[in-house]
Amino acid sequence: MKVLDSELMKRYARMAIDGFNQGWHERNGGNLSYRMKIEEIEQLRDDFKEGEWRVIGWQKGDESAFPGLAGEYFIVSGSGKYFRNIELDPEDNVCIIELNEKGNRYRIVWGLREGGMPTSELPTHLANLEVLKARDPEMRVVYHCHPGNIIALTFVLPLDSRVFTREIFEMVTECAVVFPEGIGIVPWVICGGRQIGEMTAEIMKKQDVAVWAHHGAFCCGKDFDLAFGLMHTVEKSAEILVKVLSMSPVKLNTITPEMFRELNAPFGIHINEDYLYEKKDGTIGQLPQE
Ligand code: 13P
Ligand code: ZN
Repeated sequence: MKVLDSELMKRYARMAIDGFNQGWHERNGGNLSYRMKIEEIEQLRDDFKEGEWRVIGWQKGDESAFPGLAGEYFIVSGSGKYFRNIELDPEDNVCIIELNEKGNRYRIVWGLREGGMPTSELPTHLANLEVLKARDPEMRVVYHCHPGNIIALTFVLPLDSRVFTREIFEMVTECAVVFPEGIGIVPWVICGGRQIGEMTAEIMKKQDVAVWAHHGAFCCGKDFDLAFGLMHTVEKSAEILVKVLSMSPVKLNTITPEMFRELNAPFGIHINEDYLYEKKDGTIGQLPQE
């Protein structure tokens, strides 16, 4: 089967345009990777070519290996490509890559028709996908975008996972159910580099969302719906927090730790207690009392 005719590529492209329509992908902002299933590779293999093997590295001269992903295939957005164009022309904006048996070289087997490279965040995506596969073999999607409200909050909330998570949790009941392990925070670090990639992968060992201060967010999922839905949930909650903060720095009413704990049994979750600290009053963004 042709890659362009596959349901898989259609679903990838739909996620890209959905993210663009949310306003999360100005210019070439954001990137999306998907670790393919064996049956998807077999279905599309006849449409693959054999590109040249290339080094995987965060910086020039740097060589990285992802042995946990050896021999795997990924759909990855191209560097400098615009998400608004992916649905129009997937073959020019996206590629499928294969990793070699050591997980330290990749080759393009489909796409980037007019040339180009996979996203500059490729090593960061692979570092995350490797950690996620070890956590759960069904984890396949890593998504990076630039959602305005999440980014705005990184200027006014302490860059502390506990505070960020708790404030986001309090805005929409659904949040604690959808991501009970909360949000990890990466302080401002230059993007595209090893440090930010490794910090994000460290977060993904336990959590499904990582916020990059003054830049954007990463999230993961077993499929496109779950990854997109997760980002959508966090950003919706962030939007409400921005609205609340624009009215008042103090909340009159909210969801309390006791109310959060009531969710555990009926929803079959365990909300991480780190986020359910007592607050002295309704002031938004206060740190837990040590
Ligand atoms: P790429 O165009 O290389 O994917 O980079 C976009 C981006 O958002 C970097 O953080
Ligand atoms: Zn970015």
